[in-house]
Amino acid sequence: MDAIHIHGGNALFGETKIQGSKNAALPVMAAALLIKDVCTIENCPHISDVLHMQQLLQQLGCTVSHEENTLVIDARNLSMDTMSGENVTGMRSSITLLGAVLGRCREVTMAYPGGCVIGQRPIDIHLSALRKMGVAIYEKEGCFTARVKSLEGAVINLPISSVGATENVILAAVMARGVTVLQNAAKEPEIATLCEFLREAGAVIEGIGGSVLIIQGGHELHGVSFRVPADRIVAGTYLMSVIGAGGNVFLEDAPASQMRGMLKIADEIGAQIHISREGLHVIADEHKRALPYVKTEIYPGFPTDMQSPLMAALTTAQGISVIEETIFEDRFRVAAQLRKMGAGIELSGKRQAVIIGVDSLLGCEVTAEELRGGAALVIAGCMALGETIVKNRHFIERGYEDICRDYRNLGVDIRIG
Ligand code: EPZ
Repeated sequence: MDAIHIHGGNALFGETKIQGSKNAALPVMAAALLIKDVCTIENCPHISDVLHMQQLLQQLGCTVSHEENTLVIDARNLSMDTMSGENVTGMRSSITLLGAVLGRCREVTMAYPGGCVIGQRPIDIHLSALRKMGVAIYEKEGCFTARVKSLEGAVINLPISSVGATENVILAAVMARGVTVLQNAAKEPEIATLCEFLREAGAVIEGIGGSVLIIQGGHELHGVSFRVPADRIVAGTYLMSVIGAGGNVFLEDAPASQMRGMLKIADEIGAQIHISREGLHVIADEHKRALPYVKTEIYPGFPTDMQSPLMAALTTAQGISVIEETIFEDRFRVAAQLRKMGAGIELSGKRQAVIIGVDSLLGCEVTAEELRGGAALVIAGCMALGETIVKNRHFIERGYEDICRDYRNLGVDIRIG
């Protein structure tokens, strides 16, 4: 069955190693497409989104191998510039290939990308930025064709600091003629990782880590060997699990410097956090405090991907917590499933959730509808008395390499079934 079974109600003890970052690996894989050489990407997680991206690259003519956690991409000979099928519509980050394929092939036809059910996920900002670089877009029956004679550097000011749009502009700009100035760029760590990868390949990018990026196009790129950092959202998921269920764990490789927003929240709830070069030591406080108000924000604020995991942890906090979701318009869907487990969650509109702490959750059968909501249900399963069955495990496998292995390392009675 496509499910996860958890016998919860016990604190977490032990240590687990944090996998490589999904949201860093995907744009780096797209960037490898720009390079007529061989690139090696280390610490790349075995997750279905990476597999789908791998298949898209192979569809375009790359040879790709994924041994252990090392990906080798040979993009010397591309064979086509049209992508379609489930791999494109079924995965949001396929849109990141748009800028890369245009940078290499000058034309691409693709279906509008799918993604989670957390919101409309439009790509208008991507398309309008690429138009400023000389790209013509022709839309037809749920697909679109993007075509450009020669990408031109431009001054682009993003109306929203979209992570994906920032990545697409960077990937097109390194191949464009002239300089691109990207204002209101997203500052998520995954953007800096992409820029560092491209810099190592020979690109000239200034302002890395900030909201204004200056990219000098036209530099010849060469193959690199690159290591993807650990996944801050996976580390944050396990952080919220200990806060929710209690215990004392060590999260090896957890990228603490990228987790300031969530560590601040963990401190407010009452967890003790010890940061070291090797990772994060987390000791939960059995009397976890409610959060009068917390909102999701762009980096370095509290990340939207951590909103559902936090909601799960707060279901048994003492008092009333309020979470505001400012990034996506429909990211509270998991509340209905948590209520089935006894959580006291009221939604006011689509942007605010009020969580009234209860003594404990009770295990039952729940259904994941998207990636981080699914992870939140596993957290709730660790907290709940009795057995919890989380259906639609495949959503969770988009972003977690082996969530059962990781939780078993932390002493949880968990299995797939
Ligand atoms: C990336 O999605 C991540 N995905 C998401 O993680 C993450 O939640 C999101 O950034 C925000 O941090 C990957 O990196 C693969 P956005 P992305 O463009 O790029 C609106 C996960 O769980 N918008 O920054 O799609 C959009 O609707 C996933 O790993 C437009 O209106 O996010 C949203 O409200 C979920 N028009 C806001 O901007 C556009 O053209 C932020 O979206 C693009 C975006």
